[in-house]
Amino acid sequence: MNTQRTGHDLLRRMRRNRATPAVRSLVRETALHSEDLIQPLFVRAGDGTPEPVESMPGIVRHTVHTLTEECQRLEQNGIKAIALFPCIDSSKKDPEGSHAHSPENILFAAIRAVKSASPDLAVITDVALDPYTSHGHDGLLDERGDVENDSTVESLKRLAVAQAEAGADIVAPSDMMDGRVKAIRLALDAAGFHRVGILAYAAKYASAYYGPFRDAVKSGDGQSGKPHKLDKRGYQMDPGNVREALLEVQLDEQEGADMVMVKPAGPYLDVIKAVHDVTRLPLAAYQVSGEYAQIHAAAKLGWLDYAATRDESLLAIKRAGADMILTYFASEVAESLK
Ligand code: PBG
Repeated sequence: MNTQRTGHDLLRRMRRNRATPAVRSLVRETALHSEDLIQPLFVRAGDGTPEPVESMPGIVRHTVHTLTEECQRLEQNGIKAIALFPCIDSSKKDPEGSHAHSPENILFAAIRAVKSASPDLAVITDVALDPYTSHGHDGLLDERGDVENDSTVESLKRLAVAQAEAGADIVAPSDMMDGRVKAIRLALDAAGFHRVGILAYAAKYASAYYGPFRDAVKSGDGQSGKPHKLDKRGYQMDPGNVREALLEVQLDEQEGADMVMVKPAGPYLDVIKAVHDVTRLPLAAYQVSGEYAQIHAAAKLGWLDYAATRDESLLAIKRAGADMILTYFASEVAESLK
């Protein structure tokens, strides 16, 4: 018998819907599903064992061989898509990033190998020059040291078509040049790749959270263990802006993007929500390397519960309106959801 007397006139007791795990699961509005998670993967040339990325515990630079093995594990965990990034030997980098167009570019071999070993896995490729440029910028520099827009777009078009030829399902320009989505769409169509989609990094911010990624692809000015400070504010977005993100999304839609992205994710939940409210295209969010690293670092210090923080960080991104999430946690979260 319930002898509790306080609040007998309380008609709305919110805690009733929180009373048991079963009831909580009935009323839960947002949930993570493994098919919404996209695993970013790094690949390098050569053989041997994968190289750990120091600032990203659990993340490695794969060889093509270990990459294909990893992709089979991902598929078994229920992951449907990967995002591939090459780590290029510094001896192959130059100011123009010309190795991007070399048939020897390890990215092309990696795409072919993954599509042959895991044909059902969607391969998303990074259309950008920063893995290949000696200065680490996402394009060709003019005499003032600014990234030149239109010549960079010409180079990106060629890279996107070559990725499609190697078997990419979706190409993802992450460079933030103007007009590149349209140029890539027209180039893909002209080459007969009508079926290859474009995931546009529509609102990509000039963020400090990319540091560990630049470690992983060995790009930019820093070395492992030191924060990277490459200044990309001349093309990536100002962290203070949200209306500008809506304009970027609108332009990429008009230029033929199939999906749009907000990046980073966790620190930009308001941007995800704002974009979600205006676009009808599928919306991706990229939980970037620094978001991953900070959860690992705090957990290592014993300051946060690792799995709980990881899962909450992803759920928040979903709740804000992302349909899919690129996250370095994808594989392990998918495994835990099985
Ligand atoms: C560059 C690129 C970056 C990331 C993905 N593509 C870094 C940058 O813009 O400097 C970052 C991803 C991450 O931090 O996880 N084209």
